Amino acid sequence: MFAYRGDDYFAESVRVRDLAEACGTPFYCYSRAGIETAYRRYETAFRGLDVAICYALKANSNQAIIGLLAELGAGADVVSGGELRRALRARVAPEKIVFAGVAKTAPEIELALDAGIRQFNVESVPELEAISRIAAGRGQEAVVAFRINPDVDAHTHEKISTGKSEDKFGIPWRSARAAYRHAATLPGIRIAGVAMHIGSQILSLDPYAQAFGRIADLVADLRADGHAIDTIDLGGGLGVAYSNDQPSPPSANEYADLVRQTLGHLDCRFVIEPGRSIVAMAGVLVSRVIYVKEGSARQFLIIDAAMNDFLRPSMYGAYHHIAPAKRNGGPGVAYDVVGPVCETGDTFARNRTLPEQAAGDFVAIEGAGAYGSVMASGYNTRLNAPEILVAGDDYRVIRKRPDYDSLIDLDFVWGDGEKTC
Ligand code: LLP
Repeated sequence: MFAYRGDDYFAESVRVRDLAEACGTPFYCYSRAGIETAYRRYETAFRGLDVAICYALKANSNQAIIGLLAELGAGADVVSGGELRRALRARVAPEKIVFAGVAKTAPEIELALDAGIRQFNVESVPELEAISRIAAGRGQEAVVAFRINPDVDAHTHEKISTGKSEDKFGIPWRSARAAYRHAATLPGIRIAGVAMHIGSQILSLDPYAQAFGRIADLVADLRADGHAIDTIDLGGGLGVAYSNDQPSPPSANEYADLVRQTLGHLDCRFVIEPGRSIVAMAGVLVSRVIYVKEGSARQFLIIDAAMNDFLRPSMYGAYHHIAPAKRNGGPGVAYDVVGPVCETGDTFARNRTLPEQAAGDFVAIEGAGAYGSVMASGYNTRLNAPEILVAGDDYRVIRKRPDYDSLIDLDFVWGDGEKTC
């Protein structure tokens, strides 16, 4: 995927410095082989189980990446009308699309019914009632699973933990039977199963074991209540190894074995929604050193990528390895690696030892394939970083750098503004 050949940093067989010189910086660079390998790990691990691997588009929704995964056989987990449109445009089969997300609007529900998606993961009774109203009004039947909140602590960052009772997600597991009873009375609704998702960047199987136990009990209860439960959506969440200092994440094999042990006896079809673990390590953000600045207490490496391009370090305090595009074998210098945005939070790393850098050198921020480009903003009127996909010794630009005029042209001065959006 990404490794040194000699002292040069390569994406597969393409030298990253050559890409940077050809395309300008900053840019995201993805490895096709990296994505494919990660996907195949799930496919292999779940062999023998009836599973749909629905890639969570939120991790990285570039059309080329969705399309690549669709060609490999993946379905999609979408959380908005926008993501649903992306999945359909990338030719993901509608019967492999699950629509999750906290609050689907009427137009989104209609779009999904038009497309004939596999399943809605419903997060509240009012949402269920809206789906029922719309589907019944069109003489259709929506296939639904309630997202169950199992009240399990996934022991991950508080901002990405989703399965505790105080989190906004899903139906509390203790009131699930009543919700299903109500669902069974509604027109336009076919109950197919249960869904869960307890968080992201999960580094232990224990929370899954706990949640799967609750789900198994619930499926038995729901069946006893007369509901035809044949699908369990397990959500996403397996973590990745961003740093050598963190616990290593469970493998897809270990995860699939746990599914077999805890849920295998239920004779269900499974859906999994991995995002991060498919794309995170298959992407880097390549940036150029603008200046090296001597502070009174620190050396700042000021690079041309910023928090608007890649939010994870400032938003979650996330560690990301930074690899120089050229190693020089020197003793190394401790830098604070920062971007040009006017906030102290615009910091990628503090006190990070790197080979001595000079203006014009390139660095790659690793583990940036997931929740990187998709979380970019236009803060400081910075243009979103383009994206490049490498395959072997070839590459293609899969998203162009926008231009300033089209960005600024979205705004109107008072006299030119209209009354509708
Ligand atoms: N399914 C559901 C319902 C989800 O909410 C998520 C992620 C996934 C699947 C995919 O989870 P994954 O396999 O990627 O862990 N921006 C944050 C991560 C937010 C995750 C939100 N939900 C970050 O950069 O760490």
